[in-house]
Amino acid sequence: MKLYEAKQFNLPTIEGLSEKQIEVHLKLYEGYVKHTNLIREQIKELKEKGAPQYVIDELRRRYAFEFDGMRMHEYYFEQFEEGAKEATGDFKDAVSEKYGSFEDFISHIKEVAGSRGIGWIVVSHDDKEGQIHTTFAADHELGHLAGTKVLCAIDMWEHAFMVDYVPAEKGNYLETVLQNINWEVVGNRY
Ligand SMILES: [Fe+2]
Repeated sequence: MKLYEAKQFNLPTIEGLSEKQIEVHLKLYEGYVKHTNLIREQIKELKEKGAPQYVIDELRRRYAFEFDGMRMHEYYFEQFEEGAKEATGDFKDAVSEKYGSFEDFISHIKEVAGSRGIGWIVVSHDDKEGQIHTTFAADHELGHLAGTKVLCAIDMWEHAFMVDYVPAEKGNYLETVLQNINWEVVGNRY
């Protein structure tokens, strides 16, 4: 079985997110990688032992939570690599066309971030129809749009900011994220 490995991110100092905040969050990411591997190993083992089907079924249901927890954090941390860069090119044009302007796109992200509950803001691209969407995925795995490609993922779980911000300051955390996103990374995914 090919196992997943936790990635290393080349993160700059992020003004507004402390080293401790990033450190605890990266540890959490590593937990998702570990459990993504572990679930598959466990399913194999339980099958060999003849465990009841429903035990395996529940692990299979759980898998998307761990896998998406791993992958979404990779999208998230990659976006902070090498410092903030302005949006340019096709990606900027596409979101500006859809939302009115790049500033309006950012305003739309903030509006979606107002969704109650934990989860992710996901900007995705529907390759099939050539459309961009900004949605909210609950937990890590609920509410993704089938077959779309993740362009930008913003973690709105409290663990992402509560070393540095209280829940009522969620908007300040989002502001920090938006100011530090390397839009070139996002644009390259597009
Ligand atoms: Fe997270």
